[in-house]
Amino acid sequence: MKGIILAGGSGTRLAPLTLPTSKQLLPVYDKPMIYYPLSTLMLAGIREVLVITTPHEQEQFKRLLSDGSQWGISISYAIQEKPEGLAQALLIGESFIGTDSVALILGDNIFYGIGMGTALKSMSGREGATVFAYEVTNPQEYGVIEFDTAGKAISIEEKPKSPRSNFVIPGLYFYDNQAVELAKSLTPSARGELEITDLHNLYLSNSQLNVEVLDSTKTWLDTGTIDSLHLAAEGVRKIEKEIGRKINVPEEVSWRLGLISNDQLLQEADKYGKSGYGDYLRALIS
Ligand code: TTP
Repeated sequence: MKGIILAGGSGTRLAPLTLPTSKQLLPVYDKPMIYYPLSTLMLAGIREVLVITTPHEQEQFKRLLSDGSQWGISISYAIQEKPEGLAQALLIGESFIGTDSVALILGDNIFYGIGMGTALKSMSGREGATVFAYEVTNPQEYGVIEFDTAGKAISIEEKPKSPRSNFVIPGLYFYDNQAVELAKSLTPSARGELEITDLHNLYLSNSQLNVEVLDSTKTWLDTGTIDSLHLAAEGVRKIEKEIGRKINVPEEVSWRLGLISNDQLLQEADKYGKSGYGDYLRALIS
């Protein structure tokens, strides 16, 4: 399975923070935002990642993530000229995806929880599309799933005024190879975007949408507004202090999965100089 991180967008809700840089490069407590979705894809067992950015921000992402070989994976880059919707990622990524299945994660979404790796691995390799459902108090800001009494998903509505449930789809989706062709059949919505909800509704109408409820041991944080960005940073700090470890560290995930050696991990740690992040990587080995 291939992985795509969608890290374009305009980040207007975070202005002026996003005037000089991409939202996905802003810090969430102790690391750049994109480290979180990247670690999540790695935990899901993905080794080939495409990072989609705006034209003017691609260089900054390359400086941070390079070609991925330092972490035992492959990272390539593509450009989204304009923020014309999440589903456009599948069209931009068509040749990267080739004949494989693909996981698409939004660059500003953070997933964390005990057993996350196992949960993620169980999502991949299925026929159709597989998405999570997560209970929130502000469903009107997301794609909302309606379930029937048997717990089967029966509709998905994008940002509804009157949500039919409190369950929404977080920004991590697993698709079989049909996704590319299905995305080609989409037309832009009233807001001018190729909507991911429209793609999910196509899978739903073909009875090929699997929905897995993300249980309360897992956390999903979105960082699109000033308050949610701040809360995410606070949340990460709290979790890390509580468990005495850092979360969503790509170098650590890679090392634990055996993709890089102790020496490579130490080399990576040295890049971070005297920071606590570098110290953390060094301490993993001892
Ligand atoms: P949004 O938060 O919906 O949009 P945005 O990042 O442009 O921010 P704002 O609404 O404040 O202007 O995007 C969710 C994620 O998807 C985010 O990581 C950016 C990314 N994205 C793209 O890469 N391309 C797109 O066309 C869109 C709509 C979003």
